[in-house]
Amino acid sequence: MDSIAITGGAALSGEIEIGGAKNACLALMPAALLTAEPLTLTNCPRLADIATMRALLESLGCEIAALREGRALAIAAERIANRTAHYDIVRKMRASILVLGPLLAREGAAVVSLPGGCAIGARPVDLHLSGLEKMGATLALREGYVHAEAPGGLKGARIEFPFVSVGATENLMMAATLAKGTTTLCNAAREPEIVDLARCLRAMGAMIDGAGSETITIEGVDGLHGATHRVIADRIELGTYMIAPAIAGGEVELIGGERALARALIGALEAAGATVEDTPRGLRVSRNGGALRPVHIDTAPYPGFPTDLQAQMMSLMTQAEGDSVIHETIFENRFMHVPELARMGADVAVQGGEARVRGRTPLRGAPVMASDLRASAGLILAALAAEGETVVSRVYHLDRGYERLEAKLAACGARIERIRG
Ligand code: UD1
Repeated sequence: MDSIAITGGAALSGEIEIGGAKNACLALMPAALLTAEPLTLTNCPRLADIATMRALLESLGCEIAALREGRALAIAAERIANRTAHYDIVRKMRASILVLGPLLAREGAAVVSLPGGCAIGARPVDLHLSGLEKMGATLALREGYVHAEAPGGLKGARIEFPFVSVGATENLMMAATLAKGTTTLCNAAREPEIVDLARCLRAMGAMIDGAGSETITIEGVDGLHGATHRVIADRIELGTYMIAPAIAGGEVELIGGERALARALIGALEAAGATVEDTPRGLRVSRNGGALRPVHIDTAPYPGFPTDLQAQMMSLMTQAEGDSVIHETIFENRFMHVPELARMGADVAVQGGEARVRGRTPLRGAPVMASDLRASAGLILAALAAEGETVVSRVYHLDRGYERLEAKLAACGARIERIRG
């Protein structure tokens, strides 16, 4: 298992290129199941999660060609050879559930393993399932698998989500493209990844209105066709590297970064005392001296502060002059980085969904363990500001969502290297 060693204290200077969005790509790839013609996705990130989705789609009979060194994926689902998504792949990644809607819409039947528990909370898929039932599917749960059937095809329906779910919005939007009649998704997720998926589906011939708002309307069509689609920039990778110069000091230009993808974070960074500017190629974040101020953040569905940047923001808050408060409202168990941060000298009190971060505490290098993808990124950021060496183990979590993280940070002057083992 690889680990990453960081010697803190170096200010950053340079530029970092932001890749395609992992979470957009994980929803776009299953969209290929909706048509017999090839869907080509460009600007794909090269990440472990993308490889997992690729293996899942191949297990269903898709032919996938990686072009441009893996940056483009041409996915052809000419024939669905198998309608079962097996547990051994699904358990690795919750986003596997996103094959359910498209498979059912195209084939009238699908069997998908339930994703099971996950490090950051229970994360059920009840909204995905009840939405499909509203669209006329019959569902049965047997031995950990959802057996879904809609022999006569899915029917349009009005679906009101009791709370916002990114995955359920994506799954049902895809399913509805081939349903008979109109589907209305109320209280839908508004994340940029939803808008990107809708854009791709429209390029494939789907009729979708309102993506990016609370109400999405999908008029079912008889069939979809192939398309080529460029994946949007990864706003979580962007946000993570925007926090890096804020915590380590210095200045970094984020190539391909867009203000519209990071408004909530930009608000928090500016409140904390960092400077964010637009540049012709992206965004520049700087902090040259000057104390950091504490901030209060509540994680929330887009356009709120992303839960996927909460751990990284917490690391920054340990360096503010005063106490910060973070309310985690999306996942019930997403403070697992706190004990690891405490090993580096952070003082964070967690009560329920609230974390009170005492600032400023000097951070010292320590051996720490990554517990999930974004928690690992938080520890790396803390290590940039810590005195001495930090070794983050279990970085396979990090490799699920960050491509060449150590190379990107090292190019900006961070003293960071991967230890293979
Ligand atoms: C997606 C992102 C993930 C991000 C999350 C919230 C992908 C691949 N992953 O995950 O990185 O952290 O959005 O922004 O895009 N829930 C239910 N029942 C359901 C579905 C969800 O109770 O059927 C709950 C979840 O447990 C969670 C909340 O709703 O507490 C939000 O989850 P959701 O938006 O669905 O997250 P994902 O799509 O899994």
